[in-house]
Amino acid sequence: MKKIAVFASGNGSNFEAIAQACADGRLEAEVALMVCDKPGAYVNERAERLGIPAFTFNPKDYSCKSGYEKIIADKLDALGVELVCLAGYMRIIGDELLNRYQGRIINIHPSLLPAFQGAQAVERAVEYGVKVYGITIHRVDQTLDGGKIIAQEAFHYDGHDPEEVHALGQVIEHRLYVDTIRKLL
Ligand code: GAR
Repeated sequence: MKKIAVFASGNGSNFEAIAQACADGRLEAEVALMVCDKPGAYVNERAERLGIPAFTFNPKDYSCKSGYEKIIADKLDALGVELVCLAGYMRIIGDELLNRYQGRIINIHPSLLPAFQGAQAVERAVEYGVKVYGITIHRVDQTLDGGKIIAQEAFHYDGHDPEEVHALGQVIEHRLYVDTIRKLL
């Protein structure tokens, strides 16, 4: 069984979609670890309910990024993790993880990259008057949301409510992430 890790900072609906797909056999993989940089985030409750091991840390407890990334990378190595899936992990990945997991870290982003890189992508797109939105899954490198694109899916929306765009996008995200992980594994 292939081992994957999911990194998240908040709600964790993508984490749960991936974990459920592993549990019901749509993905022949196991979520060996959920990594979270926010001790109070809802994703921690999801991991506990699903019985998935979690490593949750507070970046402020470390003097630098490589301090906690070394601990994470050691855990991933010990578990034999082959693919790292960022799912709403709102932190730039540093050299320690990038070097040790080169080409094996992917991210999901709520825009048609390279448009609207970075935080608040949906809110900025709505403000811009965008009519065709989308979801991108891409490889992670040292650039912000700039790695090579693996999968994209677009949808049309002509309103003005970021919450509606988020809701429409998340339905696509949960399916597209599972399908993309299956292809990569
Ligand atoms: C997702 O919509 C994902 O695309 C976005 O965070 C959300 C996390 O949702 N990621 C980014 O904006 C990365 N730049 P979730 O916690 O419910 O999975």
